[in-house]
Amino acid sequence: MGQGTHVRDRASSAKMPYRSCDDTESTCTVPISWKRKQRVLVNSGLRALKAPMVVLALCNMVFSCSNLNWNDPQDHLELFAGVCSITRGEWKESRSGVPMDLDFGKDHDILSDAGFSNMVFQVLNLRPGGSMWAAPVCSTSRGSTGRSSSNPMGHGKGTTYLHNLMVGRVAVLLLIAAAKAIWWKLEQPKGSLLEGHLLFQALLRLLQKLKVKITRVSTSLCWFGADTVKPLWVYSSKPEAVEVNDFANKTLVPPKKTKLVIHYKDSKGQPRIKGGPGLKLSQSYPLRFGVAFAKVRSRHQKKHRSEAHRFLRTVVRDGTSAVDPSPKMNKFWVDHANLNPIFSYLSKQQ
Ligand SMILES: C[S@@+](CC[C@H](N)C(=O)[O-])C[C@H]1O[C@@H](n2cnc3c(N)ncnc32)[C@H](O)[C@@H]1O
Repeated sequence: MGQGTHVRDRASSAKMPYRSCDDTESTCTVPISWKRKQRVLVNSGLRALKAPMVVLALCNMVFSCSNLNWNDPQDHLELFAGVCSITRGEWKESRSGVPMDLDFGKDHDILSDAGFSNMVFQVLNLRPGGSMWAAPVCSTSRGSTGRSSSNPMGHGKGTTYLHNLMVGRVAVLLLIAAAKAIWWKLEQPKGSLLEGHLLFQALLRLLQKLKVKITRVSTSLCWFGADTVKPLWVYSSKPEAVEVNDFANKTLVPPKKTKLVIHYKDSKGQPRIKGGPGLKLSQSYPLRFGVAFAKVRSRHQKKHRSEAHRFLRTVVRDGTSAVDPSPKMNKFWVDHANLNPIFSYLSKQQ
């Protein structure tokens, strides 16, 4: 994760309205102390949450990396951004934001060492009290993954393992975000079994200790002008996310039905499932969806800022709590987010 790897323009011709650390012409106007400030806040927040020690260690390794620009903190981060509608909504409300997606380059791959380290940096680089959105690739099909409500992790092999790993890493990122009072949102298609993922459940238990209640909002992309119905669940660390439906037009109906999944039998006659022609299309948010979330954020910005400042002042002042040193709990997080290769990678970037 060297210089210039933490933000990438989607297309080289398109200039993004944020500054990357390889932008040598940029002048830094923020004092160098941003790095120290971020470090104190995330350390205090993770202690207050009694987060596993390994997550604190991960953050501190990123803070120790050379060549990262901490002087340009961002208001927003969108993971698995696709067409970037959530980020574009933020830009329209005059806030800064970074979108990340595998499509933008390998430094955006949550499954790679550089990509995940990069994402940890981007979360650490968010302004305290900022916002974050994640829409990890879903694997809701139950037949081929072995998932069920009593076994949400499925058989854990092949792509099911990779999807589980993605969600495990997203849970680590959400935990770091929570430590900095970031308003996070996690989107899944309605019916997804993600909420049963073991690390997501562990995250919810940690947040409960600080009385952070998670709201699950039901909405539908067609209410915002999408070509498919696409009912969604959005998990939010603040209840105000429900207000996105104030901007929905529930009379809208998609023009035609597109097949999202195709059921077929393989050469051995085994039933299989694969994405249909409408799947990729159905995953893209219309811009109005992103704008709606950004407007909800603007509505509550003042209140959320003061809540964040209050939380962070308290955790820094009461800095007596300690992270969770339990070997069992730490191994649990290391295994489900496969953190060992990340530690090796980061140790070479110091
Ligand atoms: C469920 S879609 C989200 C689409 C997005 N909400 C939109 O409006 O376009 C998942 C996105 O995750 C991206 N993705 C898939 N694997 C990834 C990975 N390993 N790391 C980062 N992004 C990934 C895909 O390129 C895709 O854009």
